[in-house]
Amino acid sequence: MRIDIITVVPELLKSPFEHSIIKRAQEKDLVEIHTHNLRDYTNNTYKQVDDYQFGGGAGMVLMIEPIDQCISKLQSERKYDEIIYVTPDAPLLTQKTANNLSLKENIIILTGHYKGVDQRVRDLYITKEISIGDYVLSGGELAAAVICDSIIRLIPGVLGDETSALTDSFQDDLLAPPVYTRPSEYKNLKVPEILLSGNFPKIEEWRQEKAIERTNKIRPDLMK
Ligand code: ADE
Repeated sequence: MRIDIITVVPELLKSPFEHSIIKRAQEKDLVEIHTHNLRDYTNNTYKQVDDYQFGGGAGMVLMIEPIDQCISKLQSERKYDEIIYVTPDAPLLTQKTANNLSLKENIIILTGHYKGVDQRVRDLYITKEISIGDYVLSGGELAAAVICDSIIRLIPGVLGDETSALTDSFQDDLLAPPVYTRPSEYKNLKVPEILLSGNFPKIEEWRQEKAIERTNKIRPDLMK
């Protein structure tokens, strides 16, 4: 899979991809991540990529020209399955969306800044819009990193069996059950007996029960 991220602050996208699972996924050639500085795609002498909004109002808007230049160049090099714009005024990211995107070959992620992008970019190029939550970040870079992480860990071969994504929260619309590790007793706090029993069907039953209990309590909206 190849992911191209368009941004005005490429520095914000360095560290999230240089560690742990995402780093190993790149080393194993399971994913390629390329960031593109929007300022490299403007003919403007001052490398200006944003301007005041028509009609007045606070906040700058990213201009169509550099974004058009950047996306057109990428599209001349390969075909893209999705061109995603990350913005708070969009449908929320779900596990289903991440599962779906993990099957794509090439995607572009456009990150907004300031008041967002000229609407004509959205009308012309964007095939999917995603918000990572009902709150506003300073820019779309961290949201893009979150989306990339949620997708990349699902690409076959990225996670080993021991970290299989199949048992994650949300894969079955339930939150994950509680987990414990050694020691089995710490300051009088004991691990539930069932987990030490070696009775795996019973342990599975217990986990399912706890997952339902937890979901009912914390996220009743997920219980259909
Ligand atoms: N940009 C700013 N806030 C955002 C959010 N919540 N989701 C996606 N992109 C954003």
